[in-house]
Amino acid sequence: MATGTDPRPGTAAPGGVLHPARAAIGARHLRRDRWWLAPAGTAAGLLAFVVYSTWRAFANGDYYAAPYVSPFYSPCVAHNCVPMKGGADWDLVGSWWSLSPALLILIFPLGFRLTCYYYRKAYYRGFWASPPACAVAEPHARYSGETRFPLILQNLHRYFFYFAVIVAGILSYDAVLAFRDADGHWGHMGLGTLVLLANIALIWAYTLSCHSCRHIVGGRLRNFSKHPVRYRMWGLVSRLNARHMQLAWASLVSVAAADFYVYLVASGAFDDPRFF
Ligand code: FES
Repeated sequence: MATGTDPRPGTAAPGGVLHPARAAIGARHLRRDRWWLAPAGTAAGLLAFVVYSTWRAFANGDYYAAPYVSPFYSPCVAHNCVPMKGGADWDLVGSWWSLSPALLILIFPLGFRLTCYYYRKAYYRGFWASPPACAVAEPHARYSGETRFPLILQNLHRYFFYFAVIVAGILSYDAVLAFRDADGHWGHMGLGTLVLLANIALIWAYTLSCHSCRHIVGGRLRNFSKHPVRYRMWGLVSRLNARHMQLAWASLVSVAAADFYVYLVASGAFDDPRFF
């Protein structure tokens, strides 16, 4: 620890010993642990999701098996959506749209995740090595942060949060509809119901653990004592927020798993077990 009597580099210490200049370290870092493991694992996980979701988003098929709808295709707002019994299939954009309906809706959850504070850290490290890990120099010569185009668009995150809440509301509605049978009668339950319920629980936990949500709930207040309800909500959101990274991964896996389950049932590769 520096003291008031420490000599500056290049000056004489008490006793006349010359204090050396700053150590010349040629190595890019002095870490001895396997620091590359975390960014490499992150990159592999995100890449796997990107490959899977791209395939499914462009597939434009096997996304509805009554009463289940894939979260990649809900709400389905194109003219070419398959009819869903009581589901969120709304013809909002007209017949000019001929591509996969998923492409219209995935913009919002993907935008939400792409601009998420945690995912930014994850892909900045995993794909751009900027920086690859703590105390490891990055290979880039210049750094402008998120102050210029295109990274300044990361500031749209708070707006994507509002869309994410709407999408989570619609997926909750889909999970409720999963308590019907294939003919639309209520009071039934299958394995797919559990899959959609687990997915929406994780989607909500991830969405509410968002840093923007925490600020919306508890920010801009001079003191909490005059806002006890917001204080309680802020406390709950803060507890979720402490698990934001884990929830980001868990919900990413669950949304892909829910889509894959619907794909298996819709394509006839798997029969949904019905409990009652
Ligand atoms: Fe991650 Fe908002 S900070 S979703």
